[in-house]
Order: sequence, then structure tokens, then C-alpha cells
Amino acid sequence: MRKKIVAGNWKMNKNWAEAQQLAAAISEQLHTLAVDQNKEVVLCPPSPFLLTVKKATTHPQIKVGAQNCHQKDSGAFTGEVSAPMLQSLGMDYVILGHSERRAYFAEDNTSLKEKTDNALNNGLKVIFCCGEQLEQREASTHFDLVHRQLSEALFHLTAEQLQAVVIAYEPVWAIGTGKTASPEQAEEMHASIRQLLKEKYGEKTAEEMTILYGGSCKPHNAEAIFGQKNVDGGLIGGAALKVDSFLGIIEHL
Ligand code: 13P
Repeated sequence: MRKKIVAGNWKMNKNWAEAQQLAAAISEQLHTLAVDQNKEVVLCPPSPFLLTVKKATTHPQIKVGAQNCHQKDSGAFTGEVSAPMLQSLGMDYVILGHSERRAYFAEDNTSLKEKTDNALNNGLKVIFCCGEQLEQREASTHFDLVHRQLSEALFHLTAEQLQAVVIAYEPVWAIGTGKTASPEQAEEMHASIRQLLKEKYGEKTAEEMTILYGGSCKPHNAEAIFGQKNVDGGLIGGAALKVDSFLGIIEHL
């Protein structure tokens, strides 16, 4: 059975005390929900708070991840954070290829391929983001675009390496807009991603991969979205910044 995940991407929000409080509260309240063994909650705070969040979370099913890492192990890259650094902090995950990183920091499929390799080589699991802009959906090129994002950055990996990758489909037009993809739109893309994985890696690998939906996922729409056959959880932005709304989403996992 494939793993179900709700991951919170805190983006560039919270100060140190707030991060600590939020992580501790999520951890504490998660103890009150019976969370099956195959479910996982991932918290991805800003880099300066990674260790604080790790220490504040005692629930065994909470993992912690970074929002980005560099493709090189070390060197003269002022301001960057490397995968070995994250590993040395005991981090479990790193988000790669978020649309905001693609748009504002010029990340492309080539650099994301290198980042993915480096993260995996350093023992991190990768939450790999893909997703189209509104113009691409309107031009009906969204499937091609997403397939290219995945094949160019991930499909050099072996099936074994791919086990440490979670795919997150985040249509850019749904991020932070309150305009979520319909459950049918999410399912249609997730099913096509799984079909692509099947063609490349075979049925077993495709069926085992976790594919998350992201983009204005909230407590009121999580049940319908997570209820889709090929949706295995969510990557949450705004609603991950408050205990109630984040737990309200986890309840539907
Ligand atoms: P929102 O949930 O705020 O739309 O953000 C989604 C996202 O970008 C998660 O990575």
C-alpha cells in the first residue's frame, strides 16, 4: 500500500518562536488523531527553523523537510543550503522544483535533475513539484508540460531511487489563489502521471508512488480531493500555517 502524506510548506513565514509553537502544537494534537502507520505528516519550515521544528515534534509520524537545497555538496555559493547540511541536521525530506522557485529563482528541469540527484545521494527524500500555469491549461498543453517536467528531472533515476521520491502536482493557477483544482481535474492529472510512471517503470513502481495535490487545499475541500483514487494526500501552503486548518486537512487523509 502506498504511503499517504500531508506536507506543510510554510514558505517564507513565521519567526522562530512562532515556528516552535506551531510545530509543538501540531505534534501534540496529532496524538489525539489516530493516524494509521502508512500515513505521514511532513513539516517544511524555513531553513533557520529546521532544527527547532525537528526538536519540537515528538510524534513519530511527523517528518521534517527543507524547502530547497543546492545541487552541489559545498562551495562558494553564498546564501545557499546544501543537502549534506540538511542531512547533518537529521532532516528527512526536501521539497524541490516548487513553482515559486522555478518562477523567481530560475530553476529549470536541468538544475532540478542535479538537485534531485544530490538530495537522494545524501539520503534525503524528495518532494518533487510539477504543475502548469493557467495559459498552459487553457492551451491544453498541461499534460505535456507536466510529463516533461517529470521525465526531464526524474526519469534518469532507477526504480529503487524513485522510491525516495514523492511527486506533488501543484497547478500554478491554484496556488494561493483560493481557486482549487476540482477533484476531477486533480484526479485526471494524477492518473496521467501514474500512467506515465507505469510506462517508464512498470506497474509495481507506479502503484507504489505517492502523488500529492497542492493548491488552495483547505479543510473544506480536502475530503473530496483526497477521496480520488490517484490522490495520496496534499502539499499545503496557507492552511499549513495554522494548527486548526492543518489538522482539519490531516483528518481527511
Ligand atoms: P496554498 O495551499 O497556499 O495554495 O499553497 C500551495 C503550495 O504552494 C504548497 O507548496
